[in-house]
Amino acid sequence: DWNMPDYIAEAVASIRQQVGSDDVILGLSGGVDSSVAAALIHRAIGDQLTCVFVDHGLLRLNEGDMVMDMFANNLGVKVIRVDATDQFMGHLAGVTDPEVKRKIIGREFVEVFQVESAKLKNAKWLAQGTIYPDVIESAGKGKKGHTIKSHHNVGGLPETLNLKLLEPLRELFKDEVRALGVALGLPATMVYRHPFPGPGLGVRILGEVKKEFADLLRRADAIFIEELRNCTIDLPAGIDQQGIVKNWYEGTSQAFAVFLPVKSVGVMGDGRTYEYVVALRAVQTQDFMTAHWAHLPHELLGRVSNRIINEVRGINRVVYDISGKPPATIEWE
Ligand code: XMP
Repeated sequence: DWNMPDYIAEAVASIRQQVGSDDVILGLSGGVDSSVAAALIHRAIGDQLTCVFVDHGLLRLNEGDMVMDMFANNLGVKVIRVDATDQFMGHLAGVTDPEVKRKIIGREFVEVFQVESAKLKNAKWLAQGTIYPDVIESAGKGKKGHTIKSHHNVGGLPETLNLKLLEPLRELFKDEVRALGVALGLPATMVYRHPFPGPGLGVRILGEVKKEFADLLRRADAIFIEELRNCTIDLPAGIDQQGIVKNWYEGTSQAFAVFLPVKSVGVMGDGRTYEYVVALRAVQTQDFMTAHWAHLPHELLGRVSNRIINEVRGINRVVYDISGKPPATIEWE
């Protein structure tokens, strides 16, 4: 049972004591954990913190601008934005294997981050948004012997950086991190977002990643998410609405569009089309280890499909994924 203002005051004091007058760098991904870590550390040491935000070109629609708007423009946090789209796309060209794609994205991320952090000569600390479940998970890794998918997080930065680690969220669970984020002034819509994988759209574009595919996928995905947010969940009459999920975005644990690099035939107006397919994925889960596909209302699915096909030229077919985990995973790669 904790008291938020006390917790923040203690965390701030402890960060100040730890870093003294040193400078700190932090890899900002736009995800909840690194964002809350940034907001907390900024509260403690202000301009001694510099965030490096690597845009790999595999973010969602307008995501890069939103991150900059929230941190640099609103909170006054120093953020260096690196547009590394060409570098990532270049290294991903011709690569189709999902694990190889993940490795490349992870490696390039570290590479870009290292180049940027080397420019910050006075930085002595590397801050990371490691939370308690990450600590547990990496402690258990050796025992399992194998990984089903190599998860890449912004956290995986090498020791060669020669920086001391600052991990102010190490003892917190996800719901505590979220509450802390809101208390620090981050928008609730940001803090309560669905999880987004480190390799981003790189694992949602099947096979070879191309900028053209990423652009189509971003638009389809944004339509899906917008419609989920706009679709209220009908609750039986008489139920107290307080604290209950109110729309289908909140009613799902994770939802997104997947780009399938296959073309199928369609018809539009008087013409025949031959274009790509988008799959919609929406799941409900407690722990992301197992998941059920979400039983979204058919009218909602129909609206999303119509909008994507009408608004995103290049997509002429939308399908819905009805696979559970296991045997399917949540992401398609
Ligand atoms: P899967 O697809 O394995 O995903 O059922 C379970 C959860 O993990 C997320 N995920 C990732 N997160 N880097 C991440 O940071 C990754 O490489 C990665 N792969 C999957 C996925 O989005 C889901 O929430």
